[in-house]
Amino acid sequence: MTWIAGRERDIAVPDQSGRLAVVTGATSGIGYHTARRLALAGAEVVLAVRDTARGESAAARIRSNAPGAGPVSVARLDLASLASVRGFAAGLLERGTAVDILVNNAGVMAVPVRRTTEDGFELQFGTNHLGHFALTGLLLPLLREARAARVVSVSSVSAWLARLDLDDLNSERRYNGWQAYGQSKLANLVFALELHRLAFRQGWPLRSIAAHPGATRTNLATSGPLIGRRSGLPNFPALAMSVPVVTQDAARGALPSLVAATGVRVAGGAYYGPGGPFGLTGLPAAARVPSHATDRAKAEGLWEASERLTGVAFTR
Ligand SMILES: NC(=O)c1ccc[n+]([C@@H]2O[C@H](COP(=O)([O-])OP(=O)(O)OC[C@H]3O[C@@H](n4cnc5c(N)ncnc54)[C@H](OP(=O)(O)O)[C@@H]3O)[C@@H](O)[C@H]2O)c1
Repeated sequence: MTWIAGRERDIAVPDQSGRLAVVTGATSGIGYHTARRLALAGAEVVLAVRDTARGESAAARIRSNAPGAGPVSVARLDLASLASVRGFAAGLLERGTAVDILVNNAGVMAVPVRRTTEDGFELQFGTNHLGHFALTGLLLPLLREARAARVVSVSSVSAWLARLDLDDLNSERRYNGWQAYGQSKLANLVFALELHRLAFRQGWPLRSIAAHPGATRTNLATSGPLIGRRSGLPNFPALAMSVPVVTQDAARGALPSLVAATGVRVAGGAYYGPGGPFGLTGLPAAARVPSHATDRAKAEGLWEASERLTGVAFTR
């Protein structure tokens, strides 16, 4: 991956022609820009979205401002429904084309009152972690068919303050929207590192890499905090994510994911984020992994719980 000389707000994405990429949550924000740049670099991109009308609108925008880009298609994926995750994966498995890049990007943040997914999981843990865990496991046969597949998991700086409570992953005993979000994003990071170890042990040609976008201005600050509310302002920490001086735009927020997905010297188990102050803004750089994210016992506990809750087992 090279920084574009003289254009310090950007990076060059290597040619992705002939590769198939799946990006979850590609309707807006970081996922949209990740998908757009992958298509611009020549990849075929599947926008995996829960609202196909919004997905088609995103696909049309990518096609219209990127003539010559790789093919872009839309497929329905609601990560808050294991049936939907299975349906989405079944579509790709039926097609049978190897998946070169899977970007587990979609997310919901700071939901004020505890809500659950279709399967009864706490909404953020269920959507952000369990949905992506199941998706990755179900797509594993196609990822293993690729020459050098990459699975990118989008975490967050909130993982630094979070703890994995293996006895209460679904926040049934106590609920706080930010804590539940932090736990789900820590789970994304722990999952990425554990998948890397598993792939290494099994000799799979698959790199699992984590990324985080620092503080990026997207719909995230308003969509989750307003769930269940008819109107009103989202909470203060979410509003702080809209202050331009300490945040960056979504095109830039997508760069760590793009480095993880396409960078030439990227190793499995790596973690990328903005390289500026406090890792909140700036061009991508190696990010520090919080020490509590490397707790092997917790990682194994999370993995076992995720297999049990989703019914999806990775072939070990
Ligand atoms: N923005 C930041 O500063 C920041 C910081 C740290 C981490 N992140 C992470 O970055 C990722 C992308 O977020 P963003 O900031 O780009 O926010 P965003 O603009 O709100 O995008 C979130 C995407 O996730 C999708 N989504 C939500 N629930 C879904 C579900 N049940 N099934 C499928 N898709 C679903 C949304 O779809 P709809 O269009 O249908 O709502 C949207 O496409 C998230 O994982 C987030 O945790 C963001």
